Amino acid sequence: MTIDTQDLTTLDVDASVLAVDGTVADLLFRSARSVNTFTDEPVADEQVQAAYDLLRWGPTAMNASPLRLLLVRSEDARERLAGHMSEGNRDRVLAAPLTIVAAADTDFHEHLGTLVPHLPGARDRFAGDPQARAGMARTSALIQIGYLIVALRAVGLHVGPMGGMDTAGIDAEFFAENGWTALLVLNVGQPSGPDAVRPRAPRLEYSDVATEV
Ligand SMILES: Cc1cc2nc3c(=O)[nH]c(=O)nc-3n(C[C@H](O)[C@H](O)[C@H](O)COP(=O)(O)O)c2cc1C
Repeated sequence: MTIDTQDLTTLDVDASVLAVDGTVADLLFRSARSVNTFTDEPVADEQVQAAYDLLRWGPTAMNASPLRLLLVRSEDARERLAGHMSEGNRDRVLAAPLTIVAAADTDFHEHLGTLVPHLPGARDRFAGDPQARAGMARTSALIQIGYLIVALRAVGLHVGPMGGMDTAGIDAEFFAENGWTALLVLNVGQPSGPDAVRPRAPRLEYSDVATEV
């Protein structure tokens, strides 16, 4: 179903500058919305894996690939997570068919032997610098979350991202053993209908955000 609430012609760019079909641009960006309420239609692991198999090719610093995903499905896990969400987000987590906690792994250096074969010794260098790892993990995992949102859309799913949460509480609840750091919670599924989204808010113009030197 389409959930767009705005005439796309007002959002259009010149089709001749697009390297992808306009329908692809619409699916990924122009008609895609942040969804608050979902149908009961289940989200299969295969769909999330297909999204991951796209997003993993997006660039990260040193190819460190620090994004980690916790898929929250069971009622028990859902309630544990909801307890750490801000009030307005709590019911959304309880009702969505799938919720993903997107996290950063500050121990990403353990994979550098595989991920950075052209830089032997990278793992050992980062092993001794937890502060650098924390910064790098956060920056690249946040970038990968952007890829994740677009990749989920590319496999036909819709996403409701939520930053309103007690991050330390989620880390203690779910990541005490692996040390991951929660960055964003994403509800995933199919929109429940036209009321699943708020009215589309405007965006800044290119001239508002870009400057040249
Ligand atoms: C990092 C981030 C944090 C967000 N946090 C929340 C949140 O805590 N609660 C909420 O209802 N929406 C949240 N949103 C959704 C935004 O409000 C929404 O993406 C934005 O208004 C654009 O809406 P649109 O994609 O439908 O145009 C968040 C989105 C992002 C990307």
